[in-house]
Amino acid sequence: MPKEKALSRRVVLGGLAAGGLAASPIAARAMRAMGPMKRLPPRWASPSFSPDVEIELVAAPARAQILAGAPTNVWRYAARLIKGPEGTLTRLNDSYLAELLRLRTGQKLRIMLRNQLPEQNIAHWHGLHVPAEADGHPVYALDPGETYVYEFEVRNRAGFYFFHPHTHEATATQVYRGLAGGIIVNDAQEDALGLPSGEYELPIVLQDRTFNDDNQLVYDVGMHERMIGFQGERILVNGKADFVQDVASRAYRLRILNASNARIYKLAWDDGSPIVVLGVDGGLLEAPETKPYVMLAPGERLDVWADFSGRKSGSTIVMRSAPFAGAVPRMAERMQRMMGGSGLPAGGDFPLFALRVARETSDSPALPKRLSKPPLPRLEEAANPNAPRPIAISEMPMAMLINGRPYAYDDAMEIEKIPLGTTQLFEIFHQHGGMGHMGMGHMGMGMGGMGMMGGMGMEAMMSMAHPIHLHGQQFAILGRTLEMGDEEDYATVKDGFIMSGLKDTVPVFSRERVRILKPFGDYAGTFMYHCHNLEHEDMGMMREFVVG
Ligand code: C2O
Ligand code: CU
Ligand code: CU
Repeated sequence: MPKEKALSRRVVLGGLAAGGLAASPIAARAMRAMGPMKRLPPRWASPSFSPDVEIELVAAPARAQILAGAPTNVWRYAARLIKGPEGTLTRLNDSYLAELLRLRTGQKLRIMLRNQLPEQNIAHWHGLHVPAEADGHPVYALDPGETYVYEFEVRNRAGFYFFHPHTHEATATQVYRGLAGGIIVNDAQEDALGLPSGEYELPIVLQDRTFNDDNQLVYDVGMHERMIGFQGERILVNGKADFVQDVASRAYRLRILNASNARIYKLAWDDGSPIVVLGVDGGLLEAPETKPYVMLAPGERLDVWADFSGRKSGSTIVMRSAPFAGAVPRMAERMQRMMGGSGLPAGGDFPLFALRVARETSDSPALPKRLSKPPLPRLEEAANPNAPRPIAISEMPMAMLINGRPYAYDDAMEIEKIPLGTTQLFEIFHQHGGMGHMGMGHMGMGMGGMGMMGGMGMEAMMSMAHPIHLHGQQFAILGRTLEMGDEEDYATVKDGFIMSGLKDTVPVFSRERVRILKPFGDYAGTFMYHCHNLEHEDMGMMREFVVG
């Protein structure tokens, strides 16, 4: 199988030139299963739209100091404020990440994205409820040199959102090279709570990367890596390795975003303190919730109250990823264990970042008892309370499907056509047995032989967690249930879910079934839904809703 061999070599990104025409197109081309993408012309500014905030966003190669020593060649979204309030843009730790955007609910926003990369690019505003033509659909991908003008109103409530590329079959490699940025939206309800702000509010963007000896990014895209999703050898926080932040002995607000390609974290304080959760993807909860640990999959955000009151100057508290099972198929877990493996195994136990008390103080704000009631849709509003629409996940090497099909533009099935103005019940679950055209022989070869699987069924061996993300308005999680079998693995993750907030991404663990309720208001058009394991997304685990 010479093709597989070519795929599994280590690909160094940006090593050839700062321009980085290097390797990502090779990887992308090798993954191509879905054929070329249709293209629509870029959108221009509308003369009738008068923005409160206007930003130029340039996607271009850059260099960033990530590790000690040589800088790393990256791709970066560089934002420049043309119009809008002071403080709209702030640089995050001088990293490759884009400037942090600070917006307010109700603002009208114009963003001019200029593509100065050597390949196509388009940006998506993850979690924001925007018109279809402002959603960063891959059909609008810009050729090098082109500009796309996004215009929309910020309709979301206060929360932590983010932006990243959504380029056809190149989302994973482009995010990996550095293209991503955070968006913090504030509103009056949140202001009134007086939560820690300014220097006491810390954005924490979690990513994982692998570097070669010259500090350049390495993207390993062998068959195994693509199936479980890229797992880097080092954790980066806000674009820096070994992240340590000085704090005062008082309460802080941590705004955590998992912007990793595929890695799921099990966030836990190393001293055993519970995690006090203020909010999730779509903003604040009605009241703080206390959890022993919190699962955070790619695309998800977490708003954490971290109170260092009473801690001595010089003391350190570490946020870890605690061990858990079921992030990757058991087959892969076994391989991981057999091969030893370098770096950080999926579901492993390792530190993420540290907070060091550098100043003692006694003037900490108190944790509010009530926060802000999220406007959750209710089951009574569902158009289909007794007939949930399916989102069936099937994962097979080289065939990542939703509802039995890989991604194709403008290919909506009946179940993917949604009447505008309705609220829909969905059930997300794992669909197995879809091995038809793959054949067992092929599987055995790819996965190291059937012998490894022992007495366990193929289905159980293949099943893994998938963070499912739906564009458009945010949803409520109604319930999660486990299908027969995996109780032991599930026990390592099940206390880390927050069910009470507005969500746009939900990890569906091995053999799990998740019911969600999602409104489709305001905007007609084509919106994507997909796995936010970016390797899976690029392999076709994505579909579209046509709303209208
Ligand atoms: Cu964060 Cu469709 O993506
Ligand atoms: Cu999104
Ligand atoms: Cu997936």
